[in-house]
Amino acid sequence: MAKIMVTGATGLLGRALMNTLKSSHHVIGTGFSRAKPPLISLDLCDKQQIEQLLNQEKPDVVVHAAAERRPDKCEFDQHQTLALNVDVSRQLASLCTSLGIRLFFISTDYVFDGTSPPYLESAATAPLNFYGQSKAAAEQAILSVSSNHTIIRVPVLYGEVEYLAESAVTVIAKQLIENKATKHDHWAIRFPTHVEDIALTIKDLIALPVAKSSGIFHISGNQSMTKFDIACLIAEHLGINTKTFEAQLEPDQSAPRPHNCALKDTKLNELGINHQRDFAQAIVQVISPHL
Ligand SMILES: NC(=O)c1ccc[n+]([C@@H]2O[C@H](COP(=O)([O-])OP(=O)(O)OC[C@H]3O[C@@H](n4cnc5c(N)ncnc54)[C@H](OP(=O)(O)O)[C@@H]3O)[C@@H](O)[C@H]2O)c1
Repeated sequence: MAKIMVTGATGLLGRALMNTLKSSHHVIGTGFSRAKPPLISLDLCDKQQIEQLLNQEKPDVVVHAAAERRPDKCEFDQHQTLALNVDVSRQLASLCTSLGIRLFFISTDYVFDGTSPPYLESAATAPLNFYGQSKAAAEQAILSVSSNHTIIRVPVLYGEVEYLAESAVTVIAKQLIENKATKHDHWAIRFPTHVEDIALTIKDLIALPVAKSSGIFHISGNQSMTKFDIACLIAEHLGINTKTFEAQLEPDQSAPRPHNCALKDTKLNELGINHQRDFAQAIVQVISPHL
């Protein structure tokens, strides 16, 4: 049993990590505005607080899931994005290295420009927006501190949400229920990935020796779809007629998004690690409590 600290434990992925890892490890979590005991409330941008906490708790592993991950917010507030996404990650990498802690950093498929999928773990990064740039800079900062740390790149996430607008996938159900959107993006190709599958994969990687689990890994759902496809799937479940739906064939968001960042998970395949689920079934389970 290892002692694992999860940052961002109040977030979409962090909650799944806490739930999954606690079955076989001693897990402590940190959050910020939403943290309630037993979670530790901590502003990761406060350098002294992180150092004190790591020295006090002495975890064997840190899974760093906290970040600003909304691309438009990152574009708008670049200073805070650099502080949280890059500086905090660099500091955690240094502290973890000097204290002998393994670090798992959660990154994104947005480190790629989406023009030549699928992307291998070794592919060159070329982010299109500031969010992707900040995550690519964090990856480089971490691996330049120690090659023993692990970078986990993931695509758009869904899973148990506190409210439907919490994820870019479940918000579509909210729009359909409120009859706000009949026009849906049919340009960007996404691979929605359940947070529990990511947590199970990280659990498997933690069980491996450092030599096998360090470096860059890709975790991705294997079903490609656009937001338009997702809207049609959810509409079918809700009994909503899709005839009036309009497929939007050009991107229109403020921060540029990549077209198709399909992540090839060759390293996980070599290790025989593969946690997948059927999207159509899983999305119904996720949205049902909110209907
Ligand atoms: N969601 C996606 O579709 C997606 C896609 C690709 C990659 N990722 C990556 O996956 C990871 C997890 O994403 P997520 O969707 O779970 O994020 P999320 O739901 O937005 O949660 C963000 C977490 O970061 C914490 N946080 C924010 N500012 C903080 C600060 N100053 N100090 C300490 N904690 C702070 C939040 O705490 P409070 O809420 O308590 O304030 C929350 O726990 C991120 O690294 C993200 O870049 C996410």
